[in-house]
Amino acid sequence: MASGTIVLTSGAKEHPGKMTLFVFLTCLVASSGGLIFGYDIGISGGVTSMDSFLSRFFPSVYRQQMADSSTNQYCKFDSQLLTLFTSSLYVAALISSFLASTVTRVFGRKWSMFAGGITFLLGSAINGAAVNVLMLILGRLHALFLTWWFGVGVQSVPLYLSEMAPAKLRGMLNIGFQLMITIGIFAANLINYGTASIDGGWGWRVSLGLAAVPAVIITVGSLVLPDTPNSLIERGYDEEAKAMLRKIRRTEDIQAEYGDLVAASTEAKSIDHPWSNILQRRYRPQLCMAILIPSFQQLTGINVIMFYAPVLFKTIGFGSEASLASAVISGIVNVFATFVSIATVDKLGRRKLFLQGGTQMLVSQLLVGTLIALKFGTSGVATDMSTNYASIIVLFICFYVAAFAWSWGPLGWLVPSEIFPLEIRSAGQSITVSVNMLFTFIIAQVFLTALCHLKFGLFYFFAGWVVIMTVFVALFLPETKNVPIEEIVLVWKKHWFWGKFISDDDIHVGNLEVAKHTIEAA
Ligand code: BGC
Repeated sequence: MASGTIVLTSGAKEHPGKMTLFVFLTCLVASSGGLIFGYDIGISGGVTSMDSFLSRFFPSVYRQQMADSSTNQYCKFDSQLLTLFTSSLYVAALISSFLASTVTRVFGRKWSMFAGGITFLLGSAINGAAVNVLMLILGRLHALFLTWWFGVGVQSVPLYLSEMAPAKLRGMLNIGFQLMITIGIFAANLINYGTASIDGGWGWRVSLGLAAVPAVIITVGSLVLPDTPNSLIERGYDEEAKAMLRKIRRTEDIQAEYGDLVAASTEAKSIDHPWSNILQRRYRPQLCMAILIPSFQQLTGINVIMFYAPVLFKTIGFGSEASLASAVISGIVNVFATFVSIATVDKLGRRKLFLQGGTQMLVSQLLVGTLIALKFGTSGVATDMSTNYASIIVLFICFYVAAFAWSWGPLGWLVPSEIFPLEIRSAGQSITVSVNMLFTFIIAQVFLTALCHLKFGLFYFFAGWVVIMTVFVALFLPETKNVPIEEIVLVWKKHWFWGKFISDDDIHVGNLEVAKHTIEAA
C-alpha cells in the first residue's frame, strides 16, 4: 500500500485471547511509569516549601520567605534557580521523548526499561544525598539518561493501550495510566507531609530518595518480563514473536493477530519520512490536535497546583504544616475525580467531559483569583487571613482540580492517542509528548516569577486560556467515543471544518459502507 493513502480496515479488532497473568504484570510494570511521572510532579513543590531544604540550598529565598506579612507576598519564592530544580526534569523529558522511539526500536522495550530503571535509581540516590544545588539539579537530570524512559513510558503506554483495547473500553483502559500519575502525585504529597516533621531537617532526603521505589519496580520488572511481540517483530525475531503471542494470549489461534502486527510493522518501516508525512494537508486536523491538545492541557494551569501547591499555600499565609496538608487534600481529590472520568468517558463521550470540566475550571479559577485579589490586592501585603477564608480558597482549588481530573487530565493523553492513523501514529504521539513536556517545563520554570509580576491576575490569565480551549473543543473537536481506531479518519472527513482537508481519494477502505455504519451507530 502506498504510504500516501490513509489506511482503513473495517471493523474493530477482536482477536482471540484471555486476560493473562503476563498481560496483567506487563500493565503493572508499565503503570509504574505513571507512578514515577506522578511522584516527580508532586515531590519537588513540597520539598521546596520545607525550611530545612530552603535554608540549606536556597538561603536567599529562605530569608525572603521568612520576612513578615508587611512585605509583598506574591514574590516570596521568586527565584529562577529554585524553579529550575522542578523544571529541569521536563527539559530532559523533552529531549528524551525525541529519542525514545529510536532507542526502543534498536534495543527493544525490555532493555530500554532496564536502563531507564537503573538511571532512575541513580538519580534518586544523587538527589537523596545532595550536598549542593548542582547535585540537586543533576539528580533531576538523572533525567537526561533516565527520562528518555519517561519519554518511552509516556509515549508508548497510552498508545499501546489504545491499540490493544477494544473500542468500547479504550477510554477506560487508557485512563488507568492517568490514574497512576495521580496516585504518584498523591503519594508524594503524603510523603512530604510525613517527612517535613522529621527532627533534624533531613526529611527532604527521604522524600527525594523514595523515588527509588518505583525505579526498583521497573528495573526488576524489566528483568522478569520478556519483550513484547511487537518489539520482537520490529527487530526481526519472527518465531520468538509468535511464541510470545501464544504465551500471552494463551491460545494457538494467533495467526490473525500476528498478521496484523507484521502488517503494522512493515507499514511503519515502509514510511520513509514519518515526520514529513504528518505535514501533508490531509493530516492537518491531527497535526493541529497533536500540538494544541497538550499545549492547552498545560495552559489550564494545573501544574501550578500540582508542582507548587505547598508553595502557593505558604504564599497566601498558611503555615508549613497546613500548606503540606492542603496539598494532600488536593492530591486526593485528584485521584478520586479521575475515577469519574474512568466511569463516564466511554458513555458520555470526550466532548461532554471537556466542556463541563472547562466550565467548572473557569468558574473556580475566577473565584480563586478574586479571593486572593480581595485579600492581597496588587501590593501583595496582607493582614492575617482567617481560617475560614483560607478554607474557601482551598475548596475552590479542589473544585478546579476535580474538574481537570475528569477532563483535560486524562483526555489530554487519551484523545491524541486515538486520532492518528497508523502511518503517522508514532510521529504524532512524539509531537504530543514533546509539546506537553515543553509546556510543562515553561510553566514550572516561570510560575513563581509570573506570580510575582501578574499577582492574582495569573489566575485570570489561565482562566482566559480555559475559555479559549473550551470554545475550541466546542467548535473543532469531533467526538471519538466508541469509534474503532482504524476508522477514525471518517470522523474527520465528516467534520464541518476538518472535512475540507481530506479528499475522498485520501480514504482507502475495503468496505467504506460498513465503516460508515459503525461510526453512525457509535
Ligand atoms: C498532566 C500533568 C499533570 C497531571 C495532574 C497529567 O495529565 O500531563 O502535567 O500534572 O495530569 O494529575
